[in-house]
Amino acid sequence: MLWSHGLKAIALVASCWASTSDAITYSPLKPPSYPLAVRSPYLSAWIPGNEVASLSSNNAQFWAGNKLIWSVIARVDGVAYNLFGVASPPSGTQSATVTEATYTTTHSTFTVTAGSREFTLDFFSPVSPKNYLRQSLPFSYLTVTLTAGDSASVQVYSDIDSSWTGQTSDSSWSYSTSGSTGVFQIETVGAATYSQNSNGQALWGSAVYATRPSNSSSLSTASGPSLSVRESFVNNGSLTGNHANWSSTGVVALAHDLGTTADESAVTFAIGHVREESINFLGDAQTGYYRATYSDTVDAVVHFLDDYDDAYAESTQLDKLIQDTGTSSYGANYSDILALSVRQVYGGIEVTIPNDSLDTSETRAFIKEISSDGNINTVDVIYATFPIFYVLSPEIIKLLIAPVFEYMGTSAYTKSYAVHEIGANYPNATGHPSDGEEMPIEESGNVIFLTYAYQAATGNTDLSTTYSAQLKQYADYLYQNGLYPASQLSLNDALGALGNQTNLAVKAAVGLATYGALSGQSNYTTAGKEFADKIWTDRLGTDADGTHFLIQYGTDPWFLVYNHYPDLLFSLNAFPDEAYNATADFYPTVRSAAGVPLDGAIGWGQTNWQSFVAATVSGDTRDILISDLHTYISNGLNSAPFCDRYWVEDSGSYVAGQENSFRARPTLGSHFALAALSGANIWSS
Ligand SMILES: *[C@@H]1O[C@H](CO)[C@@H](O)[C@H](O)[C@H]1NC(C)=O
Ligand SMILES: *[C@@H]1O[C@H](CO)[C@@H](O)[C@H](O)[C@H]1NC(C)=O
Ligand SMILES: *[C@@H]1O[C@H](CO)[C@@H](O)[C@H](O)[C@H]1NC(C)=O
Ligand SMILES: *[C@@H]1O[C@H](CO)[C@@H](O)[C@H](O)[C@H]1NC(C)=O
Ligand SMILES: *[C@@H]1O[C@H](CO)[C@@H](O)[C@H](O)[C@H]1NC(C)=O
Ligand SMILES: *[C@@H]1O[C@H](CO)[C@@H](O)[C@H](O)[C@H]1NC(C)=O
Ligand SMILES: *[C@@H]1O[C@H](CO)[C@@H](O)[C@H](O)[C@H]1NC(C)=O
Ligand SMILES: *[C@@H]1O[C@H](CO)[C@@H](O)[C@H](O)[C@H]1NC(C)=O
Ligand SMILES: *[C@@H]1O[C@H](CO)[C@@H](O)[C@H](O)[C@H]1NC(C)=O
Repeated sequence: MLWSHGLKAIALVASCWASTSDAITYSPLKPPSYPLAVRSPYLSAWIPGNEVASLSSNNAQFWAGNKLIWSVIARVDGVAYNLFGVASPPSGTQSATVTEATYTTTHSTFTVTAGSREFTLDFFSPVSPKNYLRQSLPFSYLTVTLTAGDSASVQVYSDIDSSWTGQTSDSSWSYSTSGSTGVFQIETVGAATYSQNSNGQALWGSAVYATRPSNSSSLSTASGPSLSVRESFVNNGSLTGNHANWSSTGVVALAHDLGTTADESAVTFAIGHVREESINFLGDAQTGYYRATYSDTVDAVVHFLDDYDDAYAESTQLDKLIQDTGTSSYGANYSDILALSVRQVYGGIEVTIPNDSLDTSETRAFIKEISSDGNINTVDVIYATFPIFYVLSPEIIKLLIAPVFEYMGTSAYTKSYAVHEIGANYPNATGHPSDGEEMPIEESGNVIFLTYAYQAATGNTDLSTTYSAQLKQYADYLYQNGLYPASQLSLNDALGALGNQTNLAVKAAVGLATYGALSGQSNYTTAGKEFADKIWTDRLGTDADGTHFLIQYGTDPWFLVYNHYPDLLFSLNAFPDEAYNATADFYPTVRSAAGVPLDGAIGWGQTNWQSFVAATVSGDTRDILISDLHTYISNGLNSAPFCDRYWVEDSGSYVAGQENSFRARPTLGSHFALAALSGANIWSS
């Protein structure tokens, strides 16, 4: 089939290019926003690409854009340089100069010059596709490395404040030690378990900041009003050890004295946000998977610091795998897109166990519909995300979808079709509200695809066996209702409820064929092909000449049909090659200035569905889709964590290539759709 041999000769040309501006080298490109500490929906700190040039004074931001106070100051021979996040420089301090900014799959690294010495700030958020202990630790590393140079006396300081708790009006903090590790915890006062502020920050749990001396450094600490704590470091190179009570202008601070050295030397900080009760699943508290081993927060962060070398080694391997996978399945541009997507995906999910039993045989995963509406385990969001899991951690598909089956199996859920999500507001997976969104065909198809994706990638039949009755019910629902879908929502809910949506009928056709493969019942495969024949060959879902698919039967405009993708991924052949060839020929003719929109009547596109389609077409059409996506992430027009909806044409106050909405969503797993064609489950450790 033509779409499966899309290896590009061009992939071999250049695997690494860099852009330079403001005398800063951005490698491989300057993205809208760099992930700094992105590990969970509540540990999600970023810095806009356009703000990196003034890293010394610009603050980190939560995904929603609100500031997070997180600073780094270094002294070199008695002169203090602000390296990061010092919006009001203490008197006598200077700004370090940024010379390089780099991102990989797991690291965002900034190189800065401070007087006679150079430092790198390595913001490292581990992604551990199969090691749930490591993956579930809700911490991220910041390593400040002094590179070798002229001998100098060097001290490194860092602080955070209660902006990390989501409640700067009333919090408290504490300091404790375990061995040589110093640990600050900051928590809100009086907030309810499972509650969030208006930016989506968790109001329960605690923000954590910890470090320990390296072989060559000594540690000092303090907490108190920001300016006086920073000044005491600036003036003395160390902190007083005084721990004042919390105040709204206060910081908790850690300082390392590296001594007088010409050598390279490094110190590592751990930043985190911990919730002991992390998810409410149908009334039962769930907690992070790591608590089976480290049930105490201080023990967990100490382990996290102990684990640095192993986590770093894994990250090096994963960075290389993503680089190689992107390059071999398309080219360096594709690697750039994949590398920028990975932390955002894994930072949108959490791997849990029951809080009472800590039984790892009851591991589940939860995904937050960050920024679009906060729903939990939205089935179509898992569908958008699944290609990355299919490639790297197929077991996570099961961990995400099994709680949905569990919920649908309770007496609380009585519909004959699959549910949209298991709770309107993360972390409350307390059931689908009666006034929640209904997407009958959409989600019935999706649960079948997701089950099959897990099974195809792992060879495990446990999910399809356990939930065989439900799966048959949803397949039969598709058979009875899928060819002429009643007026209903699809996952593109912005379009409203529409009848006879072609893309939903495509989902039903491919869903039936998938169920045929899953269950070994060829009559479902046959039924799927019959649907596809009607939609394509009989022109039910296309224009009269069969040049493109329509949004609804017999009704303009054209629509970006992405539900073909599982047909191709699973080699089902429900739709004929001719249908794929037609879409490949058509989309370039309707491309807008910055990309192909979702349909012919709107000015925005979605990177998720463009990426699904990029996997189903070949040649120039694939080139256009990937190049447009690459342009979008490197055009300098944007500043939010990767938004999957963007303007493809000028529109009102927006210009083509600007972000529209849907920031920081885990749905970027869709960007792996093309890579997934080259193989499932490729991560072995
Ligand atoms: C979750 O439910 C609790 C009550 O059980 C409530 O206090 C909290 O605000 C809810 N969280 C969200 C994000 O709506
Ligand atoms: C710390 O000490 C260990 C063993 O003595 C050595 O292997 C390591 O390189 C040292 N690390 C640093 C950063 O100096
Ligand atoms: C450090 O500097 C501050 C001024 O910022 C001063 O008040 C304080 O006494 C000094 N502390 C020590 C331990 O030298
Ligand atoms: C902190 O507050 C408590 C009670 O509010 C008080 O007893 C204590 O002395 C305070 N500590 C400091 C260091 O100010
Ligand atoms: C979660 O577990 C902790 C530790 O055992 C316990 O203190 C807490 O009450 C539990 N929370 C719930 C909601 O069961
Ligand atoms: C879908 O199309 C069929 C055949 O044209 C028609 O009978 C049916 O009423 C349409 N359904 C909706 C919801 O528009
Ligand atoms: C397929 O065959 C099975 C077993 O005979 C039957 O239960 C099911 O209803 C059939 N489904 C379809 C879509 O024909
Ligand atoms: C699809 O396009 C490819 C390449 O353009 C061509 O070789 C193939 O014959 C076409 N297939 C059909 C069914 O039109
Ligand atoms: C890579 O993407 C850029 C846009 O950012 C585009 O100009 C370039 O042609 C693409 N390169 C390849 C080899 O496709």
